[in-house]
Amino acid sequence: MQIEPFALERWFAAHEADNLMLAESGVRPLDPTRFDLVPEDFGYVIPTDGDPGLRAHIGERYDRDADEVLLTCGAQEANFVTFAALMGEHAVVVTPTYQSLHALPEAFGAVTRVELDAGADWRLDPEAVAEAIRPDTALVVLNNPNNPTGRVHRPDRVRAVYEHAADAGAYLLCDGVYRPFAGADEVPPPAASLGPYGVSTCSLSKAYGLAGLRFGWVAGPREVVEAAAQWKDYTTISPPAVSQRVAEQALEPETEAEILAESRDLAARNHELVREFVDRHGLAWTEPETGVNAFIEVPDGFFGGRSFCERVVEEAGVVLAPGEAFDQPDRFRLGFGDETAHLEEGLERLDELLERHA
Ligand SMILES: Cc1ncc(COP(=O)(O)O)c(C=O)c1O
Repeated sequence: MQIEPFALERWFAAHEADNLMLAESGVRPLDPTRFDLVPEDFGYVIPTDGDPGLRAHIGERYDRDADEVLLTCGAQEANFVTFAALMGEHAVVVTPTYQSLHALPEAFGAVTRVELDAGADWRLDPEAVAEAIRPDTALVVLNNPNNPTGRVHRPDRVRAVYEHAADAGAYLLCDGVYRPFAGADEVPPPAASLGPYGVSTCSLSKAYGLAGLRFGWVAGPREVVEAAAQWKDYTTISPPAVSQRVAEQALEPETEAEILAESRDLAARNHELVREFVDRHGLAWTEPETGVNAFIEVPDGFFGGRSFCERVVEEAGVVLAPGEAFDQPDRFRLGFGDETAHLEEGLERLDELLERHA
């Protein structure tokens, strides 16, 4: 079995330490002192699938019970154990998307990619998904809201994709890490609530400002969660006790509402600055609908996302994400979730660089 190098993580590892980061996909970290960080008990016996009360609380979001939720180390592990559990011969993956959503099933089997329509605001075409489904398709994979585009797939289209998957006896795995940025009426119901073939993954890494917590989950049919849990026994066994303690507090309804309101305010303020930047330089993009990722075309005079991003690191000390990490070499991703002052500083440096090269 072979896994391709994770382009974005390798790029970050090379540049993030010494430069101004405008490539993260979540909001600035929350101040940890707002939480009680000490678990009541580290526990001699640790519930391997995670605290049942917390699982039940998370399950309510999907109309599922505690046994239909597995707590994981971030959405990355949630996706990993789900792929390991469910992947058979073949998966259909809607792209562009976060690399692990196609690289992992490609390591386990065969993948047919179905491209979003860049010329139509990255629209999802359920009929193209249906055409790609084969008799041996085990999984259809979606990321909604989508990374890198920040676009939201509409409810009727997601429902149609679910129906096509279910008709073929395949699960729909929808990674929903960017859902919490949007209000409940701005996104379709999560996949895990659509029926017996729906599986959702999520985490506190993006809209909650808790990426360092490494806390996520899988929600879905009991047989899927059980099969994923079997894999998790070999990866990280149980969720970290401290992370679980913080997650409990972050997901407590009043605290959650406060955290998400702060994040949405920050995202809206920063989105406006990015819109002004894009307009100022006449750049092309499909404006994101939610989250803090902007997927922008490489400015004229530069050749490809990677070469543009290398120039930006060298000359401006700013890290952007090359479109090549999403197999979209004509674009770059700009993350605008950090403190506004930090974003302003980064955009000023980009202004200077683009003016120099105009
Ligand atoms: C779509 C998607 N899924 C999963 C992840 C990883 O999330 P986590 O940090 O919770 O492991 C990311 C991170 O960027 C992502 O964009």
